[in-house]
Amino acid sequence: MRFRPAVEGDLDRLLGCVVDESISWSHPDRLLSYLESGNYRFDHIWLAEDEESGEILARAVWWSFPDSTGPLALDCLHVHPSAGDRVSVAAELLRRAHAGYGQAPAYHVFVPNGWRDDPRAGAAVAWRWAAAGRAGLTEELERLRYAWTEGDAPVPEPSERLVFRGDDDDEAFVSAFRRVAEGTLDFHTRQALATMDPVAQAREDVRDYRSMPGERAWWRLAYDKGGALVGVALPSANNGGPVVGYLGVVPEQRGHGYVDDLLAEITRFHAGRGVRRIVADTDAGNVPMARAFERAGYRNFAVRLVLSANPVNT
Ligand SMILES: CC(C)(COP(=O)(O)OP(=O)(O)OC[C@H]1O[C@@H](n2cnc3c(N)ncnc32)[C@H](O)[C@@H]1OP(=O)(O)O)[C@@H](O)C(=O)NCCC(=O)NCCS
Repeated sequence: MRFRPAVEGDLDRLLGCVVDESISWSHPDRLLSYLESGNYRFDHIWLAEDEESGEILARAVWWSFPDSTGPLALDCLHVHPSAGDRVSVAAELLRRAHAGYGQAPAYHVFVPNGWRDDPRAGAAVAWRWAAAGRAGLTEELERLRYAWTEGDAPVPEPSERLVFRGDDDDEAFVSAFRRVAEGTLDFHTRQALATMDPVAQAREDVRDYRSMPGERAWWRLAYDKGGALVGVALPSANNGGPVVGYLGVVPEQRGHGYVDDLLAEITRFHAGRGVRRIVADTDAGNVPMARAFERAGYRNFAVRLVLSANPVNT
């Protein structure tokens, strides 16, 4: 078996890879449109092929922002059943790619709710999870996917206790992000803070949110009536459409339910520009955030499993 990054001439054969399991994958329409937008690149797709027939036996596809220097997330891991031991083949494919990239991006797997009780989804996750773990993606996180849908949930009233203002200065958001990250229950932020200076971490978050398709002009800082900073509210969008983006409350203002006012502002903002569906993710362990989504009429429709490398070991 030969392992290598893909090249443009592989396109037809890459489009022929079909995942018929109950799990997210890079289907042909997605592959073509993301190659066009720059979110996928041939050198961010690795394949394992039969040395004699040239048939593709395994394929791994990574996603990034179009302007990123390296891949940011593994989107699809496929091994043809005829390849034999799927776990070994997939683990070897990931290990080779990680060595080529000089880093091991996290694997984001989208599965239906209740996937643990669904034998098809459970089996689809199981061999991928084992392979990812062997390739160094040993940290496991379950994120709940929520959606607000027009007509299904109300458009909230404006907050009576907070004032929202935009700010053209990115440093104002860096400073607010840094405060909001203190004592966060969000796994990714906590993981980043284990190895990074808080200001550098906040700056990286601001830069990542700027890279999203949502507009920078939508971002808001929230203040109480006395003018004290309460938090941030960032309506945004990704390749799939409008998203909540990010919100957070500074530590000294927590426990007053301000999360509801911030989420309401984001929902109102999107609804006001005609958006009919808003998607959001939060860690299953971020209970105050998950409860806020449920109070606001967002419905949990799926799960995103994130398998990542331990930053302390990388
Ligand atoms: C999630 C978050 C926005 C909740 O804000 P909030 O306005 O304090 O939420 P609530 O007032 O509804 O809090 C409900 C309860 O959870 C507690 N709580 C809130 N945030 C907490 C935290 N980070 N750690 C521990 N407990 C927390 C509150 O003290 C309150 O407890 P109580 O009922 O005993 O008074 C806030 O924790 C935060 O900014 N976290 C960091 C950023 C983040 O996780 N954003 C979401 C990313 S998707």
